Amino acid sequence: AGGSDDNDVVVIGGGPGGYVAAIKAAQLGLKTTCIEKRGALGGTCLNVGCIPSKALLHSSHMYHEAKHSFASHGVKFPSVEIDLPAMMAQKDKAVSGLTKGIEGLFKKNKVTYVKGYGKFLSPSEVSVDTIDGGNTVVKGKNIIIATGSDVKSLPGVTIDEKRIVSSTGALALSEIPKKLVVIGAGVIGLEMGSVWGRLGSEVTVVEFAPDIVPSMDAEVRKQFQRALEKQKMKFMLKTKVVGCDTSGDVLKLTLEPAAGGNQTILEADVVLVSVGRVPFTAGLELDKLGVEMDKAGRILVNERFATNVPGVYAIGDVIPGPMLAHKAEEDGVACVEFIAGKVGHVDYDKVPGVIYTHPEVASVGKTEEEVKALGVTYRVGKFPFLANSRAKAIDDAEGIVKILAEKETDKILGVHIMSPNAGELIHEAVIALSYDAASEDIARVCHAHPTMSEALKEAAMATYDKPIHI
Ligand code: FAD
Ligand code: NAI
Repeated sequence: AGGSDDNDVVVIGGGPGGYVAAIKAAQLGLKTTCIEKRGALGGTCLNVGCIPSKALLHSSHMYHEAKHSFASHGVKFPSVEIDLPAMMAQKDKAVSGLTKGIEGLFKKNKVTYVKGYGKFLSPSEVSVDTIDGGNTVVKGKNIIIATGSDVKSLPGVTIDEKRIVSSTGALALSEIPKKLVVIGAGVIGLEMGSVWGRLGSEVTVVEFAPDIVPSMDAEVRKQFQRALEKQKMKFMLKTKVVGCDTSGDVLKLTLEPAAGGNQTILEADVVLVSVGRVPFTAGLELDKLGVEMDKAGRILVNERFATNVPGVYAIGDVIPGPMLAHKAEEDGVACVEFIAGKVGHVDYDKVPGVIYTHPEVASVGKTEEEVKALGVTYRVGKFPFLANSRAKAIDDAEGIVKILAEKETDKILGVHIMSPNAGELIHEAVIALSYDAASEDIARVCHAHPTMSEALKEAAMATYDKPIHI
C-alpha cells in the first residue's frame, strides 16, 4: 500500500471529519494519507448515518404525502403502494454514489488512501492492518485521529441488528415492523421513528427524561411533540427499559418508571436502541501513547485540536462538542489550517442543529432556557407559519419561528425554527449570528415573496417591534 513515505499529515478515519481534513491538508500543499477501515469513505455519516437516513426520510415522506395529502391537492391515484426493496435500493444508490465521489476527490487532490485498521506505534507511526490481509506502516509528522463514534449500548437490550437494532439496522429493515419501539427520544429515535411510522409501523418512543430531545427550546419542543403525536407517534416519557425478553416471536420489553415503581411489559416486533453515541477509539492503543481522555472516553484537545501528545491531533465525534457531521468537517479544516501554520477557528456556539422530521426543527444559538440561566434581559419574537402565505399556499403550515435577542442591544442570541425545510431556512440565522446581527438587521433585509423565509423576517420584526401579518 502507498503512504509509507513520510507524510506531513496522516488522518486516521475517513468520515466527514477525516476526509475533509485530508482534502484540505492536500489543498494546503501538505503530503497527506488517510486511513479508513470500512473500505468506503464518508464514515458513519455517509454510510450508516446522515445520508441513508435522509434518503429514507424523503422516500417515506413522499409515500405518506401520496397516501394522505395528494388527494386534497386534487391529485388522485387508484392506490399507493410501498416497494420497500426499491426504496432501499434508491438509498443504497445515493450512498454508493457519494462514497465513490469522495474517492474521486482524494485522487483529484492527491490524497493517498489506505484501506485498513490503524493503530499507533508511536506519535509519528501508524501500523495498518489492511483489508486485503496485509500490513503497512504509515509515517507522518502530524497525525489526526478522526475515528468518530459508535452506538451506545443499553444493558439488558442486546443489539442483534435484526429484531433489536441500532440506527444501522433500522436503516436496512427487510420488512415494515407492525410494532416498533424506539428507546430514546433523541434525534435518531425521532428521525427513524418517523420513517417507519410513515410506512405504517405503530411507533412507541420510550424516553428516560421528562421530555423528548432534552436540548431543544422548551416552547418549540412542545409544538414539535404535538406535531409528532398528530402523526400517531406515541411517547412514554420518564420511563426506562430494564430488559427485553427475546424468547418468543414478539419481543417483550420490561419498562419501569424512571423514578422506580411497578414494572410493565411493552410488546414489539422491532426495537430501536437510540440512547446516544460514544466516541470510538478501540484498537488505536492511545493508552500506550498517553493521550488524555475524559471520563466519557472523548479525546481532550486544545483550541488547535492538539492532544497532550505533540504531533497528535483529534477532531469530530471523538472529541467533546456536538456529534454532528458539519461540526466534524469544520474541526477538520481548522485543525489542518493550524498544522499548515495558518489560523483556524470553529465557534461551537454557532453550530446549527437540525432534526429532519416533518416538520423539521432547526436551531442555532441559545434556547430560551439557556438565555434565562445566563441572566440576560431578553426579548422574544415569534411568527407562526399559519400566517405565512407560502406555507398556506402549499397547505403545509405547521410550525413557528422563534427569535431570542438581548433587550438592550437587540443582538440575536438564538433562533429556533420548526417548519418544512427549516434545515435550509436556519442558515440565514446562522449567518446573522456569526456577524453578531441584531433582529432589526434581519427585519430590514428585503425577503422574496412568497417564501417561508419571510416568517424569519416577520419573527425578527416581532422581536424589536411588530410584525405585519399577524
Ligand atoms: P465518523 O463519521 O464516525 O467516521 C469515523 C471513521 O473512522 C469511520 O468510517 C470508521 O470506520 C473509521 N475508523 C475508526 N477507527 C479507525 C481505525 N483505527 N483505523 C481506520 N479507520 C478507523 N450528523 C449530522 O450533522 N446530520 C445528520 O443528519 C446526521 N444524521 C445521522 C444519522 C444517524 C443514523 C447517525 C448514526 C448519525 C448521524 N449524524 C448526523 C452524526 C454524524 O454521522 C457524525 O457526527 C459524523 O459522522 C462524525 O464524523 P467523524 O468524521 O467524526 O466520524
Ligand atoms: P441523543 O443523545 O440525541 O438522544 C438520546 C436520547 O435517549 C436522549 O433523549 C436520552 O435522554 C435518551 N436516553 C438515554 N438513555 C436512555 C435509556 N436508558 N432509556 C430511555 N432513554 C434514554 O442520541 P441519538 O438519538 O442516539 O443520536 C446520537 C447522535 O447522533 C446525536 O449526538 C446526534 O447529534 C447525532 N445525530 C444527528 C442527526 C441530525 O443532525 N439530524 C440525526 C441522527 C443522529
